[in-house]
Amino acid sequence: MTNPLPAWSALQTHYEQIRDEKLRDWFAPANDPAPTRAERFTFAGAGLGADFSKNRITDATLKLLVQLAREAGVEARRDAMFKGEVVNPTEGRAALHTALRATEADAPFHAQIAAERAKMAKFADAVRSGAWTGYTGKRIRHVVNIGIGGSDLGPKMVVHALQHLELPEITSHFVSNVDGADLWRTIENIDPEETLAIIVSKTFTTLETMTNALSMRDWFVKHGCPQGELAKHFVGVSANPAEVVKFGIAKENVFEMWDWVGGRYSLWSAVGLSIMIAIGPQQFDELLAGAHDMDKHFREAPLEKNLPVLLGMIGIWYRNFFGSQSYLVAPYSEALHFLPSYLQQLEMESNGKSARLDGKFVDYATSAITWGEPGTNGQHAFFQMLHQGTTIVPIDFIAVLTPEHPLADHHPKLLANCFAQSEAMMLGRTEEEAKKIAGPDKPELVPHIMFPGNRPTTTLLVDALTARSLGALIALYEHKVLVQASVWDINPFDQWGVELGKILGKVVEADLNAASADVKPHDSSTAALIARARAALKR
Ligand code: F6P
Repeated sequence: MTNPLPAWSALQTHYEQIRDEKLRDWFAPANDPAPTRAERFTFAGAGLGADFSKNRITDATLKLLVQLAREAGVEARRDAMFKGEVVNPTEGRAALHTALRATEADAPFHAQIAAERAKMAKFADAVRSGAWTGYTGKRIRHVVNIGIGGSDLGPKMVVHALQHLELPEITSHFVSNVDGADLWRTIENIDPEETLAIIVSKTFTTLETMTNALSMRDWFVKHGCPQGELAKHFVGVSANPAEVVKFGIAKENVFEMWDWVGGRYSLWSAVGLSIMIAIGPQQFDELLAGAHDMDKHFREAPLEKNLPVLLGMIGIWYRNFFGSQSYLVAPYSEALHFLPSYLQQLEMESNGKSARLDGKFVDYATSAITWGEPGTNGQHAFFQMLHQGTTIVPIDFIAVLTPEHPLADHHPKLLANCFAQSEAMMLGRTEEEAKKIAGPDKPELVPHIMFPGNRPTTTLLVDALTARSLGALIALYEHKVLVQASVWDINPFDQWGVELGKILGKVVEADLNAASADVKPHDSSTAALIARARAALKR
């Protein structure tokens, strides 16, 4: 796999030179004088710390990776994005999620953004205080966010992460799947008189969201809500306000986002209304402030100490030079439970592309498969493969140093596991060490208890899980995605790859419901599946 940039070929040569070197040796006290690896490869920004020292990098590697970032024009791409240039050329749009958290009065669309935020805050305060009531005069106790992808994953992840800041009177729910079980399991136990639905869809045409929104409307009506009172139970968030009004949501209850906010980058906009209702406008501002801290760091820190640049370039190192297929995000934080699935969309929908900006196809790998699960759960499930399997999976560990709950004595156990895992991944267990453990009676055990080690990990450190630190963490990954897209020369802001399935889905749906004579021809597999489903659905 090739890339014409000089630093790329230099990195290829460098890879051949260091591929067999061992982290364990690099960390051996004799080889690690002050400033130690930990000192040289630990960086900070926007209140977060990042220890990159357990990665298979040397000073020379980092230098070459930063050189590659420069040659790929990371800085120019970053600056163009912040300025509001059309960085999403296939859709002819800017990508201005950073403007949503900018405090500078000359930031793009500043007045428009501030006005919409003030409208959100007024509404959120009314719901939180109980001043906003349902059709029978009861206060709102359940907020159901109906949306999918970027209109779901970000708000769901943040509300879950900041549950300790949530208003106790209100429970947040998130419904995304067109599988009726998702909506049904949510609404079957809640009181419509106390429920507010937020329909979130940038396009307001998404099949899943519209289907759930219509069923939710029926549910209110079936439970006695007069048509004329539905406005008390529905608000909409969209870049297509005309469609929201057509759906029947009162014009004054429509919150706007804009086409220059990508779905997966949108939690900072009115898409975050459910977040604001849960934690309040002030904490929402803190979330934005944390992201803004990271924006500043990304713009101002030298590339050599720039967290999104280093995270992104180290990802490139494994993906393009070591050939790693996937990478794992392991937050040692139950609060960050939904971070991996949020990052799956952010990384894979952004950088899972093959066409370069010039329309030619890449001949190098792009987005790795992003996956993850909170620690310590993952340790008792798939970590076996990470330690002794045949594939190297680089890992981002995320550790929150202070707990956000009162069970303080759990916390040293949690942190110990996080740090010990990264140590174990790095050290492994040699044959000699395994032999000592197996003892003379059980030599056959030796290969089974050896660990190759040399498995690369990064540890991100968060002092405490606050709205501000969470904002910075999310923005770190957003910018990491841009850094990688710049090197791969792809557009991280479109998502044409989701279209084909949607188009064919409509045809198949029509075939599931059509009279037999009208079912369209398909390949034998799809035709057989449709026939089976038609029989089950009694069509
Ligand atoms: O189908 C993919 C996608 O377009 C995502 O990019 C987006 O976040 C999601 O669907 C939801 O889209 P919308 O907000 O328009 O309903």
